[in-house]
Amino acid sequence: MMRRYCLVVVLCLVSSTQADINNKYFPESFQFGAAGAAYQIEGAWNEDGKGESIWDHFLHYNNPTSKVADGTNGDVACDSYHKWQEDVDNLKKLGVRIYRLSISWTRILPDGTPYRVNQEGVDYYLNLFKALKQNGIEPLVTLYHWDLPQHLSDFGGFLNPQLADYFAAYARICFENFGPYVKYWMTINEPQTTCGSGYSLGAHAPGYTLIDGGMYQCAYVSLLAHARAWHVYNDEFRAQQGGKVALGLVCGLSIPLDPNNPKDQEAAERNHLMGCASYGNPVYVGNWPQVMIDRIAAKSKEGNYPFSRLPQFTQEEIDLINGTSDFLAVNYYSSALVQYLDDFVGFPPNNLFDLNVLAFANQSWPQAASIWLTSYPEGLRIILNRLNKDYNPGEIIITENGWSDTGELDDQGRITYIQAHLSAILDSILEDGINVTGYTVWSLMDSFEWSTGYTEPFGLIKVDFNDPQRTRTWKSSAKYYQNVIATRCLLDQCQ
Ligand SMILES: *[C@@H]1O[C@H](CO)[C@@H](O)[C@H](O)[C@H]1NC(C)=O
Ligand SMILES: *[C@@H]1O[C@H](CO)[C@@H](O)[C@H](O)[C@H]1NC(C)=O
Ligand SMILES: *[C@@H]1O[C@H](CO)[C@@H](O)[C@H](O)[C@H]1NC(C)=O
Repeated sequence: MMRRYCLVVVLCLVSSTQADINNKYFPESFQFGAAGAAYQIEGAWNEDGKGESIWDHFLHYNNPTSKVADGTNGDVACDSYHKWQEDVDNLKKLGVRIYRLSISWTRILPDGTPYRVNQEGVDYYLNLFKALKQNGIEPLVTLYHWDLPQHLSDFGGFLNPQLADYFAAYARICFENFGPYVKYWMTINEPQTTCGSGYSLGAHAPGYTLIDGGMYQCAYVSLLAHARAWHVYNDEFRAQQGGKVALGLVCGLSIPLDPNNPKDQEAAERNHLMGCASYGNPVYVGNWPQVMIDRIAAKSKEGNYPFSRLPQFTQEEIDLINGTSDFLAVNYYSSALVQYLDDFVGFPPNNLFDLNVLAFANQSWPQAASIWLTSYPEGLRIILNRLNKDYNPGEIIITENGWSDTGELDDQGRITYIQAHLSAILDSILEDGINVTGYTVWSLMDSFEWSTGYTEPFGLIKVDFNDPQRTRTWKSSAKYYQNVIATRCLLDQCQ
């Protein structure tokens, strides 16, 4: 679509971004896909035995306009609980080989505990997985995409290390029931985001503002929970089911504002180590990065804490977590310029002062509707090289990457973003020898985007949220992506 349009607009042909697009074919083995998550699409929040999650609770018991830009929630969302067959039809029509989705914990275990399994919830996912397989689509399944059972949140949620026991039990039930249909599992999606937004900033459920240490305790418990689930799979299911399990990281490239200034270099490195690597390092090399351990200990001490606000792993815990990954699942949206800030002690001590950098976008990077999202595809190639070198994961899947706008059907901005990022991925495969085997674009459909509600959609397919039928309409980007998948080529012609 877009290319035909470009052919009549001569300017387009000479624009530098077009000229930079890789004109080789994607390898036959490369798996194109699309992504979504339970709370964002399913709706049916209390149907067929489903229990209450922290997002249900958060948006039912707070004034919704104080938490979500348009005062909406995910009670109905895309209604995929009822319209899943249409979703499968759209995936098939797009030609994708993988569909990334998440399981709603409270649909399977209404109060989160293993005491009672809700068979209707199990059946929903079984039907969906079977239909996907019948259409040649592999489900890539996230166990936890932010919708913690409210009962377990009352029990402390990600502040309580015993959550790891509950998560391992839930994971076992999922592996038992769905393992025959699922070969790619993700344990927790972007714990960096939920721990920061849910336990420190308070913008996401459960809405805690524990600015000194909530985020670190949550990180500690998330890593234990991930590791326990991985071991359940490794010990009890791998031999029979032969699948793979990974934690869901979110990583961008941290670029020193002044590349020749050692202080900015240090700040950029710190931003990486205390961000993406704060979850990547424990899983792939063991323990938090030393910089993170040392800084938080020092800042805690300066703030009169006789202990570090960062929980310390015992050697036993390090061994439990180290190596618990069968591939690298990484979400990439954007990168940042990072500037050094002079160290100072902030009161009360908190993670912003622990990190103590300024991070912002280059003004020349195109801006999406979401304030946090700009386009810098070169950053994806560079961060892939770094993660591959640091973690040697064997296989990498880009599990999220996408662009928000204001919902237009002719979404040229999304096409440009997806094309440029797929081109960066192809460069990393063909020129850098990095084993990126798949890509699940965020998102298949417009969906409930947490604090921004339905105001900044990411979908290839438009959903009419004012229509009780939740009618789906293909945007230009869906047609472009369909063509890319069919030809394995990002342009009109490849070599
Ligand atoms: C921002 O991007 C422009 C265009 O690519 C580049 O020339 C400039 O050096 C970048 N600025 C910084 C501070 O990296
Ligand atoms: C993590 O495991 C690797 C491989 O077994 C080992 O070399 C490394 O020392 C471990 N890391 C820690 C911090 O124990
Ligand atoms: C890439 O990963 C896939 C899946 O694990 C594997 O089959 C393939 O051999 C790997 N390719 C390379 C070049 O390592």
